[in-house]
Amino acid sequence: MEGGLSMWKRKDLIGIEELSREEIEVVIETAVSMKDILKRPIKKVPTLRGRTICTLFYEPSTRTRSSFELAAKYLSADTVSIATATSSVQKGESLLDTVKTLEAMGIDLFIIRHSASGVPSFIAKNIKAGVINAGDGMHEHPTQALLDVFTVYEKKGKLEGLKIAIVGDIFHSRVARSNIYAWNKLGSNVILCGPPTLIPPYIENLNVKVTYDLNEAIEDADIIYVLRLQLERQKRGLFPTLREYHMFYGINQERIKKAKKDVLVMHPGPMNRGVEISSEVADSLISVINEQVTNGVAVRMALLYLMLGGKSDENPV
Ligand code: CP
Repeated sequence: MEGGLSMWKRKDLIGIEELSREEIEVVIETAVSMKDILKRPIKKVPTLRGRTICTLFYEPSTRTRSSFELAAKYLSADTVSIATATSSVQKGESLLDTVKTLEAMGIDLFIIRHSASGVPSFIAKNIKAGVINAGDGMHEHPTQALLDVFTVYEKKGKLEGLKIAIVGDIFHSRVARSNIYAWNKLGSNVILCGPPTLIPPYIENLNVKVTYDLNEAIEDADIIYVLRLQLERQKRGLFPTLREYHMFYGINQERIKKAKKDVLVMHPGPMNRGVEISSEVADSLISVINEQVTNGVAVRMALLYLMLGGKSDENPV
């Protein structure tokens, strides 16, 4: 695992687009070791003692924020969580001033989520501390994609040559974009499926197939990756009704019969049960949605270790 530290040179993690295959593989290998720590009765190692991490979320989050905070605590880093609703942001303080103020208190790494694409990149260019993008607008959600590929690697033992069907609201999805980059770099074959209004134009240029026919997407798929319908980002009706959306693009028991026998169903959460996925499928044995959540902690521990571990006085685990 120490080899990963010498390989990882980045101050920031903004997107999967700029990562090499080797960097993604280092994160996966490091996450394997971190997962072992999570299985111990006492999930705590001193690796990042003395380092301080700040989560700064301008959009709601359950999984990403809490798993980063747990990951930091398990590695003995100190954490500060800024709730923008009760911070001086409400008095008009700018985002950059907010971050620089916190940096002046000794923060080593910021975890930033924002509704505007490009915010984590902008902040990263203006501070010395590291930045991890925890989801920016419709751009990228790199740690989600890393935990997704780690989950599939754990379950299938390989990533090369798999058929990955990403289904749903591709247009508004930073998760889809990060996943497309990740799967392509790792040699998997990606097919996107959703209503034409939820597929961005020219997305084929990212080396993916596109179909509007769910049966075609699912046929022989190794992974069905279901996306949340992001109603909060949709300003006009992009499909007739939720009922019709489920009829044509919802993943249910009947639909998945066309996939491979050992297909896995994934979802980044939060789910709209009965809309993009039925409860029967979400809670079935082929669903790895809970494993994705667990692996989110391991992958975020791996990233914190890779980005801050080399600067710590402590030996790695
Ligand atoms: N998948 C994901 O980013 O979930 P949260 O919005 O709960 O962080």
